[in-house]
Amino acid sequence: MATAVVIGADRGIAAALVDVYRERGDEAIAVCLGEGEAWAGKGVRVVAGVDVTDDASVAKLAAALAGTSVDILVHVAGVGALDRWGEFDFDRMLRHYDLNALGPLRVVSALAGNLSTGGRVGIVTSRMGSIGDNGSGRMYSYRMSKAAANMLGVNLYHELRPRGVSVMLLHPGTVATQMTHGAKGWDQMTKPAEAAAGLAAQLDALGPDTPVEFRHADGTLLPW
Ligand SMILES: NC(=O)c1ccc[n+]([C@@H]2O[C@H](COP(=O)([O-])OP(=O)(O)OC[C@H]3O[C@@H](n4cnc5c(N)ncnc54)[C@H](OP(=O)(O)O)[C@@H]3O)[C@@H](O)[C@H]2O)c1
Repeated sequence: MATAVVIGADRGIAAALVDVYRERGDEAIAVCLGEGEAWAGKGVRVVAGVDVTDDASVAKLAAALAGTSVDILVHVAGVGALDRWGEFDFDRMLRHYDLNALGPLRVVSALAGNLSTGGRVGIVTSRMGSIGDNGSGRMYSYRMSKAAANMLGVNLYHELRPRGVSVMLLHPGTVATQMTHGAKGWDQMTKPAEAAAGLAAQLDALGPDTPVEFRHADGTLLPW
């Protein structure tokens, strides 16, 4: 039985990923921004009130997990933005960078000591953060902050590999969650459970000798 920690597990893809781990018998730890009421009675350990943009909050998470050996750590929490040319809100962009790029750095650095040898770290970024795949522009703050998160993942790979910990960057697909709600074709988008199953499968396939990669939940290798 592995111990899997999922960050941002109040709802959406992260909540579905917690379900994947608990349903297969792993110890699932849901790290939530809110109180995590949805997990009551489901056999899931909850660490509540963790805002990944807040140093003290992440320190509280590290204290809550002191002594817990973590085999799988997946940072999913993030925020989307539809900023357009000529309508930039730079303060909001900085807040998004804080969450999407610095959030996973805060969390992974705070929990690095908990990661077991052979452990796996997944960071859910987005295909929107791929420079090579950017064929349509726009979404400035989202693309830029997710590209930074991809760079973070490669740095973490170099940092953690000597300790026997593997790192992977992940795109979940276009998923019907609160983040995408209202977008065209929402009903036809991938469901969170399917995306989460794919993300877990990619992390399961990650071995100590796997180079750092950016993969779609369906297994497709994505360009940086
Ligand atoms: N949906 C897609 O199509 C898609 C595509 C590509 C990438 N992604 C990425 O996948 C991840 C999850 O997306 P989603 O669609 O599941 O989004 P979502 O439904 O909006 O869920 C976002 C989650 O992040 C949590 N969160 C927000 N701010 C936080 C903070 N400061 N600290 C800790 N947790 C925080 C939210 O908690 P509350 O519920 O308490 O607000 C919520 O649980 C994001 O990183 C997103 O960029 C999604």
